[in-house]
Amino acid sequence: MKTLYLNIGECEVIKDRDVNIKIVLGSCIGVVVFHEESHVVGAIHILLPEYKKTAKTEKLTAFADTGLVHLFKTMKKFTGHIKDYKAIIAGGANIGKSDHCDIGKENYKACKNILNKYGIDILFEDCLGTESRVVNFYTNDFSYEVTPVSLVTHSKELEPEYDINTILKDIKEFSSYFPVPNKTILEIMRLKNEDVTPEKLEQIMLKDDFVSVNFLKFVNSSYISPRHKIKELKQAISYIGIKNTFKFINALLIQNMIKNNIQSYSINIYEYKIHVLSVALLSELIAENLGITDNIPYIGGLFHDIGKIILDFYALKNYTSTKRVEIISFVENSINSCAHAFIGRLYLESLNLDEKILEIVEYHHYPDKAKKAKKIVYIVALANLLISSFLIGTDNIKRTKEFISFDEIISQIKIDISVLKEIINNIPHIISIAEDMVI
Ligand SMILES: [Fe+2]
Ligand SMILES: [Fe+2]
Repeated sequence: MKTLYLNIGECEVIKDRDVNIKIVLGSCIGVVVFHEESHVVGAIHILLPEYKKTAKTEKLTAFADTGLVHLFKTMKKFTGHIKDYKAIIAGGANIGKSDHCDIGKENYKACKNILNKYGIDILFEDCLGTESRVVNFYTNDFSYEVTPVSLVTHSKELEPEYDINTILKDIKEFSSYFPVPNKTILEIMRLKNEDVTPEKLEQIMLKDDFVSVNFLKFVNSSYISPRHKIKELKQAISYIGIKNTFKFINALLIQNMIKNNIQSYSINIYEYKIHVLSVALLSELIAENLGITDNIPYIGGLFHDIGKIILDFYALKNYTSTKRVEIISFVENSINSCAHAFIGRLYLESLNLDEKILEIVEYHHYPDKAKKAKKIVYIVALANLLISSFLIGTDNIKRTKEFISFDEIISQIKIDISVLKEIINNIPHIISIAEDMVI
């Protein structure tokens, strides 16, 4: 039977087709509604409880209120009525374990309200708590199972085989594990703010086909959607502005460094890209709301998990596929549950980037340890927690130490809960920009 992965904000209605609908859920809610007699099944992956005009997105299926109504309307086309519908619902976990901002619970309440309002019989529910879940629904016989997302546990018995110091020395000494950045992009990244002019950007981009072709593709994408096709770099830069050009170029740099799936963390390449692009865009949005307008939070967001690429490359070169997840789990847990942050910093030092960016990468799971750029580090940590709570690009490594909590960050950066909620409502919009930026 074919598997249909239902990603965030997606909604599908299936009639007379045998598929396995699979939905992976953190704080999101998965709802599967079916009408046995006409053999119609509808499923939706809900991200947030309520659509608001300020959300700037057209993805109405990402919200419980607009999404479920859309689902029922689409199903009605096949069934002729909204009667005898049955539903199963799962998800809504409080991934950030927060008292102040429990998106999962709000999602759950909103979904239940709407299902009750439409008189839909809820056959089964597995919601709330703090664990992520996977839903499998089989349309041939309307059977289903909801299971916890499995985490790879670090196997204690095998520990003595490895030595963390030897591994670290190996990684540090062999810079061959470090991705080679695109030179043109690096040149642009290192420009000081005042040196970034349209002429300079064009001049550098003209030297590199990879950069210019992808930049023009992005400017002509559905997200920017210019009235006429833009063919020249100069025109493209002035159309989207210097700031956005600079942002896109940085996004290209990170994407150019990732060539394969991040196997040792069980993350696929697309998920990884969406994760870091969304964290970057969300960091920028939070920073702007707190009066910070430079591009450091954005760049820090792009690079925060770069260490995973390096560690995966190390594992790929030295261990068989069955050992890779285990070795990475061992390395991560040997350094405060967070080796990728430490290794990421080492790598960025070799690229000569701003110290504030290095701090973001090193402390994105422990922002309280940051020295010079505490506030910005907290901002990226918050963006990372939020995006991870929707399970976008998260890894399956079970960590021995807890990272910073959601509520601690909120109290540290003193962000108003109502402002934060407004920002969270823009996440579907952010994810769709990230999707357009993926090359
Ligand atoms: Fe991380
Ligand atoms: Fe991350």
